This record gives sequence, structure tokens and C-alpha cells, in this order.
Amino acid sequence: MLPWLESGNPSSLHVDGRRAKGAIDQARERVSTALGCEFGECLFTSGATESANAAIIGAAVANEDPTRRRVLISAAEHHCVLHTQSMLERLGYQVTLLPVGRDTRPDFDRVVAELTTDVLLIAVMHANNETGAITDVAAIVDKAHEAGVLVFSDAVQTFTKIPNLVKKLRADLIAVSAHKIGGPQGAGSLYVKAGTKLKPLVGGGGQERELRGGTENVAGIVGFAGAVTLPMSDAMTKSARDALLKRLISGGAVPTLSPETPTLNTHCHVRFPGVESESMLIRLDRAGVSASAGAACSSGSLEASHVLLAAGFSEAEAKEGLRFTLGPGIGPNDAILAADRIIQAAQAILGTEKSRVAR
Ligand SMILES: Cc1ncc(COP(=O)(O)O)c(C=O)c1O
Repeated sequence: MLPWLESGNPSSLHVDGRRAKGAIDQARERVSTALGCEFGECLFTSGATESANAAIIGAAVANEDPTRRRVLISAAEHHCVLHTQSMLERLGYQVTLLPVGRDTRPDFDRVVAELTTDVLLIAVMHANNETGAITDVAAIVDKAHEAGVLVFSDAVQTFTKIPNLVKKLRADLIAVSAHKIGGPQGAGSLYVKAGTKLKPLVGGGGQERELRGGTENVAGIVGFAGAVTLPMSDAMTKSARDALLKRLISGGAVPTLSPETPTLNTHCHVRFPGVESESMLIRLDRAGVSASAGAACSSGSLEASHVLLAAGFSEAEAKEGLRFTLGPGIGPNDAILAADRIIQAAQAILGTEKSRVAR
């Protein structure tokens, strides 16, 4: 990335500008190959939040059909998708939040029942960022397309872990992010299937096929493209994740998902009954274990996980949720070491609670 931090403007005709444009073209080639799409179907953005907004709001504004005024959003989506609701409503759309089951995935029969001819678009994520539960998006796409409904899928958690996402999901719009695959923050992509009508969220100088104005983040885009070939952590982390989960369960943790739920191998989600995740996070940080409760992007807040609440967990249970994500290079021994520190932290909190009650 370093040489591109001072690059020319890719829209300029001079040699520095042309070199920067060449670097973006090369990056687009690599990211579109990793997505499994055509060169022109891959737009660069500032990350998945912008991609999701550009997809959902962009499709809503571009739609000229007065009979399709409803948007379906699964209730366990990332906030970058859920929070488009108010904007959609201001544009005159009605938003239906689709309930999710205990496995944090939308209920398929309910989704099919909602896919009526008044719906413009459905947003359904591929893997949940908190629990790692994987949804069969392609099955939903088949039903949605039968009803003439566009599908947006947030595939931030599965990009590069699961190859050929575009062909696998068959969605019309897909958001991915650079920093979830080892690339820099502030870069991402939106896949827009050829022929999909979209209006730009950010107007400007006609960059990104007139769908996203603004001088491109050349260094970020180059870094993003460099990351798509980094080793995939999903297959590599299975043994470590399994060891972590097994040890945590033996230490009193309750797994959030049942073993039948298809889950990313990078994710481990548990609760220690009676132990609030906020106290755990503070202790774990001191013990050298980085964990999160709810979405990493909002872990500064004390709110219970909206994903667990949507899945039917009580407020108290949702405040106990702990999410551990494993990166490449974490082996079973590291996982067991971490598990022991996690169990110790939970026991220390439970011990403190008991002595407080006894006093
Ligand atoms: C599932 C999911 N969607 C969207 C985002 C937002 O991505 P970005 O930080 O690139 O805006 C994240 C980031 O944490 C995520 O995990």
C-alpha cells in the first residue's frame, strides 16, 4: 500500500494518474476474481457499511415501480443493514423485519411467505457476524427471484473463506469488507449484478461507473486486493475452534448454537449463565484474551446483543453472550490456553457475586 499513499488522482490524464488508474484496475481484477464476478460488476467503496447502504438505498431510489413498496430485512442483520430502515421509510417504503430462529437465521418458511409481489428487495446476510451461523442464501434467492424480488446479501464474514460467493449465493447485490479479510480498514466492495438498477448514494465525479462519486482510496483498494489471496482462516481454525468450544463447555459455558447449525469455523459463541459479558470483557482484556459481546463495531455500548434478542433469548441471556473469533495462526493449544483464562474469569466473577450475596 505504501507507494500508493501519495499516488496521483486516478481520474487525471497525466502519468501519475494513469498509474493509479492501472493499480485500481489490477485490484478490481483480483477482487472480482475472488468474488467470482465480472470486472465491471465490482465497485469499490469505503467498506461494507457503505456497500450495504449503497445497495439498499440505491435500489430503493432507482426503483420506479409504485407497486413494490416493501423491503424485507432479517432481524439479525448487522446494524449497517438494519439502520437503513428509517431512510427507507422516509423514501416511502414499508420495512418488514423478518424473525429469526434460535439459530439466529431467518425462518425459511416465513421468508417465503413474505416474498409477495409488493416487495422490492430482501436483505439477508450470509453468515452472522456474532454467532457465525450460515444461512442458505441461494435457497432464498431462488424463491425471491420467482417473485421478482431483488436480493442483497452481506457476505462480510464469508468473503474469501467461502470461494466464488457470487455463483454460490446468486444474489443481485453483495457487500464485502477489506478489514475482515486481513486488509485495511476503510475499503470494501459492492458486487452489483449486471443489469441491476441502482442510483448512486454519493454523487460526484462519475467514478465507479457513476455509482460512487469521489476520488478513489487507491492505497486502500490496493491493500484490499492484496488481502484476497491471504490464507483462508475458516478451514485452518476448525480444530482450534472445536477445542475452544469443548473446553469452555467443560468449564460451565453454554453454547449459543446447537451443533446442527452450519457455522463458520472462525466463530465461537457462548454464554456463562449468571455472568454479564461486560464484566467478562474487562477481565479478559486484562488476561490477554480479546473477545467481544455483540457486534464488535458497537461493543462500546452496554446494550444486549440485538442478534440474541431477535433469536428469542431473554434480555439477561443476551447480556451474557460472548463472541470469540479465531484468526489464522491460532492453533488448538492457543485455544485451550485462552479457554482456561476465560473459565477462570467467569469463575472469578461468579465467586465475587456469591460473596456479595452472602454479605
Ligand atoms: C457482517 C458485517 N457486516 C457489515 C460490517 C461493516 O463493515 P465495515 O466495517 O467495512 O463498514 C461488519 C463489520 O464488522 C460485519 O461484520
